[in-house]
Amino acid sequence: TGPIRLAVIPGDGIGTEVVAEGLKALDATGVKYEPTNYDLGAARYNRTGETLPDSALAEIAEHEAILLGAIGDPSVPPGVLERDLLLRLRFELDHYVNLRPVKLYPGVSTPLADVRPEDLDIVVVREGTEGPYAGAGGAMRRGTPYEIATQESLNTAYGVERVVRYAFEKAATRPRHKLTLVHKTNVLTYAGDLWARTVERLRSEFPQVETDYVHVDAATMFFVNATRRFDVVVTDNLFGDILTDLGAAVAGGIGLAASGNVNPARTTPSMFEPVHGSAPDIAGQGKADPTATILSVAMLLDHLGHGEAAARVEDAVAADLLSRQGAGATRSTRRIGDDIAARVAG
Ligand code: IPM
Ligand code: MN
Repeated sequence: TGPIRLAVIPGDGIGTEVVAEGLKALDATGVKYEPTNYDLGAARYNRTGETLPDSALAEIAEHEAILLGAIGDPSVPPGVLERDLLLRLRFELDHYVNLRPVKLYPGVSTPLADVRPEDLDIVVVREGTEGPYAGAGGAMRRGTPYEIATQESLNTAYGVERVVRYAFEKAATRPRHKLTLVHKTNVLTYAGDLWARTVERLRSEFPQVETDYVHVDAATMFFVNATRRFDVVVTDNLFGDILTDLGAAVAGGIGLAASGNVNPARTTPSMFEPVHGSAPDIAGQGKADPTATILSVAMLLDHLGHGEAAARVEDAVAADLLSRQGAGATRSTRRIGDDIAARVAG
């Protein structure tokens, strides 16, 4: 096996800054990789009108993995880059698992009272290709007082089964063996019913996994006052989006939240990215925390079978986080990246 063929999309704002530090950590592992840089995002769009040219998508698809920084800028109307670049990558590359750990590392402060790391170690398996994100719907009599806008949620038996199956498999590998379905079956009766029946049906294949159901509104409450309820959570694309921002907030902030857009079938490259956005307000100032991107690199390595290197990156981050406790001056993006890379290199 040769070097990892890695597509790199730094994107906008702090994206470029944090990706540089992510690659530094990857360099420090000694795992060989061959990066191809893709200049996609607001600057490209403003210059050429292109979001994701078909040719770039085809090239990216030939890589083994993608590292993405962040997409979005106030100069571009909302929705353009989100839909035509970020979501298009997730959809076209069939990233049906959006894997989002919500984990409190020792030494990291949480707004939650009395919550210790052992109380907050959740993996959210967010569906990545369907739900309200599919873009189905429309507007009638647009711009009139009689406008009717619909936004439908797409849920296919195939799409729900494959993500629920992945979540069961993930739960089976974790010590607590617990899977919670989060939905809103009391109101979204058609989609909720499909999700609930799918969990019920797959249960018999995973007798070691305990299953549970929580409505999404209650789940937001339990993410604050009963985090121990959760081990693996499987949920719809939109609920997962919302729940994982809350998860990031309780697990030390958006600067630490990593994610993987995964195609477990491995027929296309999976894409790893921090949960945070491009933060134009602090871009170019060296203030962004690259930790989420570095943890996303650990997820990337793990996905590609470099478990040992992945663990070294995660351990280096954990040690760095512990060292931040009570530390005085805050470090620059580059400094944090250097310090973590030094720990990775050992
Ligand atoms: C995320 C982001 C995206 C999403 C946006 C930028 C389209 O919020 O990765 O969570 O909603 O999935
Ligand atoms: Mn989000």
